Amino acid sequence: MSTTQSRNLLRSQDVSGSYDEGLPSRYEAVRSVSEKISEPLAVDDYQLQSIVETSPPKWHLAHVSWFFETFVLSYFRKDYKLYHPDFIYLFNSYYYRVGNMHPRPQRGMLSRPTVEEIYDYRRYVDEQMRLLMAWADKSQWEDLAFRVTLGLNHEQQHQELLLMDIKHNLSVNPILPAYRSDLPESPALASPIDWKERKGGTREMGHAGEGFSFDNETPRHQVLIRDHRLANRLVTNQEYLEFIDDGGYQQPALWMADGWTLINQQGWQHPLYWHSVGDEWREYTLGGTRDLNPNQPVCHMSFYR
Ligand SMILES: [Fe+2]
Repeated sequence: MSTTQSRNLLRSQDVSGSYDEGLPSRYEAVRSVSEKISEPLAVDDYQLQSIVETSPPKWHLAHVSWFFETFVLSYFRKDYKLYHPDFIYLFNSYYYRVGNMHPRPQRGMLSRPTVEEIYDYRRYVDEQMRLLMAWADKSQWEDLAFRVTLGLNHEQQHQELLLMDIKHNLSVNPILPAYRSDLPESPALASPIDWKERKGGTREMGHAGEGFSFDNETPRHQVLIRDHRLANRLVTNQEYLEFIDDGGYQQPALWMADGWTLINQQGWQHPLYWHSVGDEWREYTLGGTRDLNPNQPVCHMSFYR
């Protein structure tokens, strides 16, 4: 946690001298979303790690709790009793200053602790957090609000990752199971595209608001932008299909050199999760496989495609 981050948060929350009344309820709300996201999973799904870049859902659920244990509970309570000493190693990720960690590619090998034990771990951490927030000393309020808010933003990042990883984990199964069968198809009516001419110049970027920011969103700084055109909406599946039908994946002139190398190495011919059935394109979604909606924004593209 950097001092910049700390300053931003303290300025934004104005917690100096007063207890942040909303903190416990924000904590409960964010924590419950992680479990809500996990609700449709079968117990077998919690274990999956389809590729190195994904993590098993149960690892995410444990790791975000590890964060509160390590950076909040152990920090404020010198007598804090860890739920399990092995969890420090199992559920750390990239925080080298707090010790070694289990290798990411092998997270899918952790059949133990079980899913049930991970939920017990969450209950334990939640109970300890409630006690801490209820009984924190006045001298700790500012720092407590900062650290809990950071932990909650961290958990929300992992909620996005959870959905992203669940989708990939399920997509490698030939029967393409739906994560949820009750997800409505989002209506997407693409408006005619309109290109806006924009003048270049010196612009500011980086966090400028009053709310929370991660330290990689600061400091606010100036950047040089050239004259450019920007569309008023996202590229649709239909437009991307036209690129494919026009031989877009066969023309090296349309790709940067390392992008061209990558698509040939990986055999990419279309966006991830698209597949063709006869003349029709279908797309795997969290709601199962569906006809490709031509008006929806194309997604699951890499930097190059
Ligand atoms: Fe994390």
